[in-house]
Amino acid sequence: MVHHHRAAQQQQLKLLEHQHTAAYADCCGVGSTKRCISKRTLFLRFIGIFSIISSALVFAPRFLSPDYFEDNLQTPSVHPLCASMSNHSICCDRTAVRTDVCFMRGDVRTHSASNSLLLHLPRNSTASMEEQLIRPYTRKWEAGTMATIDELHLKTINGSVQGCDVVHDVPAVVFSTGGYTGNVYHEFNDGILPLYITAGHFNKEVVLVLLEYHDWWITKYGDILSQLSDYTPIDFTNDKRTHCFKEAIVGLRIHDELTIDAAKMPNNRTIRDFRNLLDEAYKPRIRAIEQEEAQANTNRKSPTRSPRKPKLVIVARNGSRSIENEVELVKSAEEVGFAVEVLRPERTTELAKIYRALNSSDAMIGVHGAAMTHFLFMRPGTVFIQVVPLGTDWAAASYYGDPAARMGLRYMEYKIEAKESSLSREYDKEDPVLRDPERVNARGWEITKKVYLDGQNVRLDLKRFKKHLIRAHHCLVKPKIRKTGSLSH
Ligand SMILES: *[C@@H]1O[C@H](CO)[C@@H](O)[C@H](O)[C@H]1NC(C)=O
Ligand SMILES: *[C@@H]1O[C@H](CO)[C@@H](O)[C@H](O)[C@H]1NC(C)=O
Ligand SMILES: *[C@@H]1O[C@H](CO)[C@@H](O)[C@H](O)[C@H]1NC(C)=O
Ligand SMILES: *[C@@H]1O[C@H](CO)[C@@H](O)[C@H](O)[C@H]1NC(C)=O
Ligand SMILES: *[C@@H]1O[C@H](CO)[C@@H](O)[C@H](O)[C@H]1NC(C)=O
Ligand SMILES: *[C@@H]1O[C@H](CO)[C@@H](O)[C@H](O)[C@H]1NC(C)=O
Repeated sequence: MVHHHRAAQQQQLKLLEHQHTAAYADCCGVGSTKRCISKRTLFLRFIGIFSIISSALVFAPRFLSPDYFEDNLQTPSVHPLCASMSNHSICCDRTAVRTDVCFMRGDVRTHSASNSLLLHLPRNSTASMEEQLIRPYTRKWEAGTMATIDELHLKTINGSVQGCDVVHDVPAVVFSTGGYTGNVYHEFNDGILPLYITAGHFNKEVVLVLLEYHDWWITKYGDILSQLSDYTPIDFTNDKRTHCFKEAIVGLRIHDELTIDAAKMPNNRTIRDFRNLLDEAYKPRIRAIEQEEAQANTNRKSPTRSPRKPKLVIVARNGSRSIENEVELVKSAEEVGFAVEVLRPERTTELAKIYRALNSSDAMIGVHGAAMTHFLFMRPGTVFIQVVPLGTDWAAASYYGDPAARMGLRYMEYKIEAKESSLSREYDKEDPVLRDPERVNARGWEITKKVYLDGQNVRLDLKRFKKHLIRAHHCLVKPKIRKTGSLSH
């Protein structure tokens, strides 16, 4: 549940941080498309280099492993290592840093009492007996987290077996919704996106089998799940029936933080395709909400909307890292020319409602935190301004800024100054907490969490912040004027 630390990565990537954040700091520029494009290209080029360097630093062994090569094109979810596996066999790809994925082909039967998936060998099979263990969760490098994930036995079995209670004609994809499930960033990053990467190409002809099944998770992500599978998900641990499959994929693939590497995907699918899936997923529910509202308003005249102002959504946090002068921020944004909506997502807020608010929005502002995951709900081309509190530079860029830019959002970062932090009221001006957050962060995750994540609010310097608002407004409005102009020809 707790957002957790990647100390090693942080150390290694720190060197690069300055350069790459600077590269997109003012992509929206002064509305000059040309300048914006050239900056952007530069940025993308840099990201390319950046990701190579960062993999070299963090994932050095990858260069030596087959994982570095592109996946087999016909069955892209199968690693080359397992692409040529024969029927009646088990093959595990353990080459990736973030995840293991195993494949079973043949007569696959669930046996929840022994936490197993059994591969029943045909009578005259010459295949050797085999057993593999796997914890199907995408945080392989975090031993502590992985220890909490149920371990599955995948084993061949010879002789008599339990009969099938349910026979499925489509493959199973098996994964855990344990670990950090409960935090929306992790739910998308470690669960939903990997699920799309692993199961998306089955065109819903796949059964999802869940370890640590939670009803609330099924409800929360039901709209998305129904775009990925036409079948009822299986609660592996509590469903004692024997489910039979001809194929099972155990574990999920993952590419990087909140992103999709098209080169590793069937049909070159990208994060935008994922976004399109979200749009399809939420459409029915949103239309229903609209209808309800229309019915409730039949007697009321719909407000005639004067020339459309760009819409800005402030994604507000409850608790730490809140914007203390939110009211003034709203006023300021309205003065700049935005129609402002404040969204306060809570754990129980329906995702369709959040999607509706953000998909219809031209800009989103929020203070760094898990709720920034909702940038995925913004349309490409819109603006995302992330307010970066003291001590969160690296995380803000890595988890949200870079992925948002990769999805095609115009990303702007607003790094607060010490005086905009509530910490400036608690610590002396010269204290390292204010002057040198990197040094403080180096003392460990517990300190980062206590001081910067749980102990900090922001009070925006609206004079400085307004410049960002104006830039955002400018780059949203200007192209539209041009468009109208060309329409009148
Ligand atoms: C693999 O084995 C299963 C179970 O014996 C069988 O139903 C299936 O047709 C076989 N698949 C292929 C491609 O031979
Ligand atoms: C197993 O036996 C069946 C007939 O009983 C035969 O068709 C098949 O080729 C045999 N398979 C192997 C691997 O020997
Ligand atoms: C399968 O079981 C039979 C007897 O039950 C045994 O003779 C045979 O060696 C077993 N096959 C393998 C691959 O272990
Ligand atoms: C995917 O991208 C590669 C390289 O850009 C291209 O050669 C290939 O034709 C693309 N495939 C599809 C299905 O778009
Ligand atoms: C999201 O916004 C786009 C563009 O305005 C619109 O076409 C689409 O229908 C919206 N999606 C939903 C689910 O309302
Ligand atoms: C938000 O804050 C209010 C007041 O502090 C509290 O009652 C409520 O439970 C909080 N909601 C969440 C989701 O944390």
